[in-house]
Amino acid sequence: MKTLGLLLVAALAIGGSFAVDKNNFKTCDQSGFCKRLRPFKPEKSQYTLNLDTVIVHGNVLSAEVTTVDTSTEKRITLWHYALKLSALKDGTFRVELDEADPLYPRYRSLLALNGEPKPDGLKLISNENGKLTLSNTQGHKVIITAEPLKFEFVNLAGDTVVVINDNHQLLMEPLRVRREKASDDEDANMVEVAAPVFNEEEIESGNQLDEGKKVSIEDEEGAWSENFKSHHDSKPRGNEAVSMDFSFPEADHVYGIPEHTDKFNLRTTTSGEPYRLYNLDVFEYELDSPMAIYGAVPVMYAHGPKHTAGVFWHNSAETWVDVVNYADSTVVSSLVNLVTGGQKRRVDARFFSEANVIDVFVLLGDKPADVFRQYTALTGHAPLPPKFSLAYHQCRWNYVDETDVRSVDEGFDTHDVPADVIWLDIEYTDRKKYFTWDPLKFPHPTEMVANLTAKGRKMVVIIDPHIKREAGYFLHEDCTEKGYYVKDKDGKDYEGWCWPGSSSYPDFFDPAISKYYSERYLFDNFPGTSKDVHLWNDMNEPSVFNGPEITMPKDCRHYKPPQDGHDGLASFWEHRHVHNEYGLLNIRATHDGLLLRTDGKYRPFILTRSTFAGTQRYAAVWTGDNAAEWGFLAVSVPMCLSLASAGVSFCGSDVGGFFKYPEAELMTRWYQAGAYQAFFRAHSHIETKRREPWLYDAATLALIRDALRRRYALLDFWYTLFYEHSLDGLPVTRPLFQEYPREEETYTIDNEYLLGDKLLVHPVVEPGVTSVKVYLPGAETNTLWYDVDSYLAHKANGYFTQEVTLAKIPVYQRGGSVVPRKERVRRSSALMADDPYTLVVALDHNNTAHGTVYIDDGETYEYQQNKYIYARIDYEPSGITYSFINEHAHYPSRSWVERIVIAGIKTPPKTAKLHQGDKQLALQMTLHKGNDVLVIRKPGANMATPWRIAFSY
Ligand code: GLC
Repeated sequence: MKTLGLLLVAALAIGGSFAVDKNNFKTCDQSGFCKRLRPFKPEKSQYTLNLDTVIVHGNVLSAEVTTVDTSTEKRITLWHYALKLSALKDGTFRVELDEADPLYPRYRSLLALNGEPKPDGLKLISNENGKLTLSNTQGHKVIITAEPLKFEFVNLAGDTVVVINDNHQLLMEPLRVRREKASDDEDANMVEVAAPVFNEEEIESGNQLDEGKKVSIEDEEGAWSENFKSHHDSKPRGNEAVSMDFSFPEADHVYGIPEHTDKFNLRTTTSGEPYRLYNLDVFEYELDSPMAIYGAVPVMYAHGPKHTAGVFWHNSAETWVDVVNYADSTVVSSLVNLVTGGQKRRVDARFFSEANVIDVFVLLGDKPADVFRQYTALTGHAPLPPKFSLAYHQCRWNYVDETDVRSVDEGFDTHDVPADVIWLDIEYTDRKKYFTWDPLKFPHPTEMVANLTAKGRKMVVIIDPHIKREAGYFLHEDCTEKGYYVKDKDGKDYEGWCWPGSSSYPDFFDPAISKYYSERYLFDNFPGTSKDVHLWNDMNEPSVFNGPEITMPKDCRHYKPPQDGHDGLASFWEHRHVHNEYGLLNIRATHDGLLLRTDGKYRPFILTRSTFAGTQRYAAVWTGDNAAEWGFLAVSVPMCLSLASAGVSFCGSDVGGFFKYPEAELMTRWYQAGAYQAFFRAHSHIETKRREPWLYDAATLALIRDALRRRYALLDFWYTLFYEHSLDGLPVTRPLFQEYPREEETYTIDNEYLLGDKLLVHPVVEPGVTSVKVYLPGAETNTLWYDVDSYLAHKANGYFTQEVTLAKIPVYQRGGSVVPRKERVRRSSALMADDPYTLVVALDHNNTAHGTVYIDDGETYEYQQNKYIYARIDYEPSGITYSFINEHAHYPSRSWVERIVIAGIKTPPKTAKLHQGDKQLALQMTLHKGNDVLVIRKPGANMATPWRIAFSY
C-alpha cells in the first residue's frame, strides 16, 4: 500500500497524467442515504404541526410535529417530533427539529457555533386558518402553515425570502431498534425495513411512542449496513438521515457551501451529482466539480436584485446539496411552471445529511453584507492574526535539513526578495513522530529558529493528527494508556494508515485528550520551538490512506460525555455524526496549546486543511494539493471567495501549484495573484524540482520580486482589513455583488474581487494574454477606479479591456478611498514596523476620500488593552484629517507620513500646512499634470497622534 502510494505520487510529480481516481470516492448512488433520499419528492409532505401544542415563550416557539399517513381515511399518525423556532438577534431565525423521544440522542455539532446565539424577542401575531404568524422585535416575520408544515420567512420590506418545505422534502428518519430474527442463519440474523409498523390498537389510539414499540422491521437494502469497495460500514443505529428543502424566491443565484472547485455561483444539479460536503483528502482533485474535497461549510446564500437571504445547515455529518435554479436553461419549462408558476427568478436548494438533528439558521439579510455578517455572528469572527502571517510564506515538502533552511533563508536576502516565514513539512520530524525533530537533519532547532528570528522571520512546522503506533513513542504510549484514541466499531483503538505507517487518531471530542494535546505545544514539551514557531495542522479530515474514501470509517467511536442512560449506542458518537468537525476540534486543541505556551500573550498562527463552520476562529485555510496548471491558479479565486463568504477570509492556494513544476510564466502569474490573496504561501511536492524564486531566470525573478514587494507595500492595508474583519465579520476578500448588490452583471463574476471596499483585483490567470476584460462596478454612483500603477482614472462602466504585459497585475483603487502603504520594503515585515507611510488618496467625483489604518505591535494581545491605533484618514477639499476612531487607544508608533499621493485632483490647493500638536509646517507639493496627481512631499506627520493638513486655494 505504502510503496504503491509513493510510486503513484512520484509518477505524478514528474509529470504523469493528472486526474482524480473517482473510484475512491462515492457518488450519490454509492452513498446509502443519498441514493435513498435524493428521489424523495412526495406530492405532499407528511409533516404536520399540531396547533394545540404551540407554546411561545421568550424567544422560542415550541410545538409538536407529527408525520401523518394521509393515504388512508384513517390519517394514521406515524411519528412524533419536537419543533423549536427561535428568534435570534439581527434578522436570524433558528429552526430545530428532533424526534420527540428518540431512542438515543441525536448529535448536535459541538463547536461550529461561537457560543449560544443571542436571542431576540418573538411574538405570536396571529393564529388563524391553520397558520401562525410570528414576528421578531425588528419586524421580520415567520408564517408557519400547519398542514403540510411550511415556513415562510419575510424580510423587513415584506418580501418572502426563504421558504422551508415548499417542495415537501422535509424528512427525519426515526431511530429504530434492530430486531433480531429468530433464526440460526448467521448472515441473516437481522430483519430489515422501511417504515415503522404498529399494531392496529396503537394506530387507533394514536399512541405509538412507548418503549418497545420502536422496534421495526426493515427490509430495505443497506438499512443496517453498507459496503463501499472493500469497506464495510456496520451502521449500528440504522438509517437516521435528515433532509430539508429551501426555496429562495426572487433569487438569481445561490453561493457558498465551500469547499468545491466549482464556480462561486452554484449550478443546477438536477442532471448530475449534487454538491457534496464531506471532508476528504482527494488526491489530484478535479476542477469544476461538485465533489467533496477537504472542507465542508454548510452555509448557502441566495441573492437577487431585491434582496439576499441565507441558510446555515448546522450539521457535521456527510451532507449533499441539490440546487435548482429556475433560470438555468437546463431546467425544463414544465418544472418552472409547476413549481414557480413561470417565475424564473427563484432558486431551490435541498440539504440532506446522513444523521443528526435538523438545526438550521435562516438569515434574512437583506443585503449580501447582512447575510455574511449574520453567519459570522453565529460561527464567530476570525481573530486578528499576527501581522507576519499576512506576509509571504516559503514552504516546500521539504526543506531537508538545517543547512537547507539556512540557505533558503539567505537566498531571500541575497536576491533581495522579502519573506517572513520558512515552513517545515513532515520530514523534519523523527520518522513522522510529531513533537520530535529528526536528530540528524535537525539537531539544533533552537539555533535554527533563532537565526530566522534575528531577521524578523518566523518558522511554521507541521503537526498532523495521526499518531505513529510505535513502541516507545511517548505520544503513542500516553494515548494508548489513557485511552485517548478514537475507537473502532468494537471499541478497540482504531488503526489506520497515514504518513508514519500504522497510526491512530486522537479523539479530540474527549476534553481530557484535547487538554493533553494542547499541552504538547508547551515549550518544555516541544523543545526547539519558541513563540516564533507557529503551526500547520494538515491531514485533519482526517486522512486515512487505507480507510473508506481515504478517511475514517463511519462506525468508529468518539467520546461522548456521560449522561443518563449512558450505555450501548448511547455511550458514544459514531464518526458518522461528527466527521466534518473532526478537524475543527483538532485546530481548537492546537490553538489552545499555542495560547497556553505563552500564557496567552502571543497570537497564534495555524493553517488547517480540513474546514468546517467556525474554522475561522482558529486558523487560516489553504486549498490543498493543487497542481502547477493554469486552471488551478484560476480556481483559487472562486474557491477563496466562497470560503471568505463562509467566514474564512484567510485563504490561499499553494503558489506555483503543489504537484508538477510551474514554468516561468505560470509561476510569475501565480505570485502576482498570490500577492493579492490573503494567505500567501509558495509550496511544492517533495518530488518536484526546486523552485525558490531565484532558481528562475533573472527576468522572472525580477517579476516575482516585484509581486512580493507589492504585497509588502500593502501589508498595513491588509492588516487594517483583518482588524476590521475581526470587528465586523465581513469578508476581507469580497465578491463584487457584496458592494454592488443591485448590479446584476456582478452576480456571476468570480474572476475578480474586492479587497475590503477599496481595491479591485483582477488577476491574470491565463497564459500568453495581452489583455484581460475587467469589470468595473459602480456606474450608477459614478464610481471611479484608479489603476494603481498609473493613477489613471477609469469611469465605472461595466467591462473594459485592460492591456497587460507580463509585469502587469490589474488592480484598481476605488475613487473615494485612502490606502496606506509602506514603500521601503525590507527583508521581513517585522523590520518594516517603524517605517514611514505613503497614503494614497483616490478622489471620488465629490473630491473626497476616506480610509482607515490600524497599527499595533503585530503579535501580542496588548491591543485588547487599548494599545493600538485605529485611525480614520479623511480627505475633503479643505484638507486631510487623521483622527483616532477610538480615542482611548494609543500605540507609541514611530512611523510617520513620508508622502501623500492624491489622485484625481482637478483643482489643486496652493498651499498645504501640517498641524500636529503645537507643530505647524508648510508643506511642499508637486503636481503631475498629465494624470491629475498631486504629491505632498515629506509631510513628516507622526502616526502616534492625530494631525491635520489644511489646504488653501
Ligand atoms: C499533504 C498536504 C501537503 C503536504 C503533504 C506532506 O499532501 O496537503 O501540503 O506537503 O501532505 O505533509
